[in-house]
Amino acid sequence: MLLLAAAFLVAFVLLLYMVSPLISPKPLALPGAHVVVTGGSSGIGKCIAIECYKQGAFITLVARNEDKLLQAKKEIEKHSINDKQVVLCISVDVSQDYSQVENVIKQAQEKLGPVDMLVNCAGMSLAGKFEDLEVSTFERLMSVNYLGSVYPSRAVITTMKERRVGRIVFVSSQAGQLGLFGFTAYSSSKFAIRGLAEALQMEVKPYNVYVTVAYPPDTDTPGFAEENKTKPLETRLISETTSVCKPEQVAKQIVKDAIEIWGQLEREASGGWALAWKERPCRCMFRLNRAEYRKHRRLLKYLQTWGELCPDCVQRHRKRAPADWADFVFPAYLKSKQTHSMFLMIRSSSSYFGRTRLI
Ligand SMILES: NC(=O)c1ccc[n+]([C@@H]2O[C@H](COP(=O)([O-])OP(=O)(O)OC[C@H]3O[C@@H](n4cnc5c(N)ncnc54)[C@H](OP(=O)(O)O)[C@@H]3O)[C@@H](O)[C@H]2O)c1
Repeated sequence: MLLLAAAFLVAFVLLLYMVSPLISPKPLALPGAHVVVTGGSSGIGKCIAIECYKQGAFITLVARNEDKLLQAKKEIEKHSINDKQVVLCISVDVSQDYSQVENVIKQAQEKLGPVDMLVNCAGMSLAGKFEDLEVSTFERLMSVNYLGSVYPSRAVITTMKERRVGRIVFVSSQAGQLGLFGFTAYSSSKFAIRGLAEALQMEVKPYNVYVTVAYPPDTDTPGFAEENKTKPLETRLISETTSVCKPEQVAKQIVKDAIEIWGQLEREASGGWALAWKERPCRCMFRLNRAEYRKHRRLLKYLQTWGELCPDCVQRHRKRAPADWADFVFPAYLKSKQTHSMFLMIRSSSSYFGRTRLI
C-alpha cells in the first residue's frame, strides 16, 4: 500500500514537471539577447542596462541627449562579461513621431538583431497643484510617459510575435497605482500605462510575449532630483515618509521580474512597510505598527482629512490584525483583478517597489 502511494506520488510529481512549461513561460536567457532600454542614459534605465549587460545582453540605449548617451555607454561597458558585447546608442525623442521611433528600432535590429526585450523607461515627472500646472504639462507628461511607451512597443511587437519571443517592460510608478497630491498630471500618465499593459498582455500572451509593469517608489536619480524641485509642500510631506531607493536595487528587481515571469504568485518582500493590495475584493492599506503609526501620524492625519482612510475598513482589519498592528485602509482606489498580483512597497530596506504581474 505504501509502495503504491509512493509510486502515485512520484507519478504526480513527474506529471507536474511535464506540464509546468505549459503553465509558466521559460525565463528569457539574457546572454546574447538584444535589450533595448529607452531612457537608458540615466537613472533607473541606465541601471537596467547595466544589469542586463552584466548578464551578457547586447544593449541599445535610447534617449535624446547624445553626450549623456555616450557617457552611459562608457559606464555600461565597464561591466562587460565577454568581448563580443555591444552597447549601441541612438538619440531620439520617443514621444514625438512614431515613424522616427520605428526607424531607430529598425536600425537597432539591423545592427544587433531582433529585440528580445524592450524596457520602456524614458519618462519624466512634474509635480504641482492641479490649478497651478500649465495645461501643456499634462500634454507633455502624457506624451512622454504614455506615448513614449506606446511607440517603441508598437515598433517591436510584430517581430516579437512572429518570433514568439519577447518581453516588454513598462516603468510606471507608485503614483501609477495611487493618485497622490500634486501628481494630477504625472499619476494619470502612469495610470495609462497600466491599461495599455493589461490590454496588450491579453493580445500577445498566445505568442509567448510577456508584459510586466514596474511601480517604483521614490528612487535616487537625476529625474527624482528634478521632480523634487517642483513638489508642493503636501507632496513633499507624503514623499518624506518613505526612504529613497537606490536605482541599482530597483533595476535589479525589474530585470528579474521581466525575465522570470512568475505565475500568479504574489511575492512579499520582507520588512519595511507596505502599501499593499492584500485580498479580494481588494483594498489598499498602510500596515503600520504602533511606533510607525506614531512616527507617521502626520501623514495619516492628512489622508484622513482628505477622507482617504475608511474608518469601517480600519475597524474590520484591526479586529483581524495582531494586537500591535494597525491597518489603514484606502477605499476603492484599486480595482480587484484576478490577473493581478501587485505588490506596492513604500519603504523598506531591500527591494522595494511595487509591480504588477500580468499573465
Ligand atoms: N526616480 C524615481 O523616483 C521614479 C519613481 C517612479 C517611477 N519612475 C519612472 O522611472 C523612469 C526613469 O526615471 P528616472 O528617475 O531614472 O529618470 P531620469 O534619471 O531623469 O532618466 C530619464 C531618462 O529618460 C530619457 N528621456 C526622457 N524623456 C525622453 C524622451 N522624450 N525621449 C527619449 N528619452 C527620454 C532621459 O534622457 P534624455 O533627457 O537625454 O532624453 C533619461 O535617459 C521614468 O519613467 C520615471 O517616471 C521614477
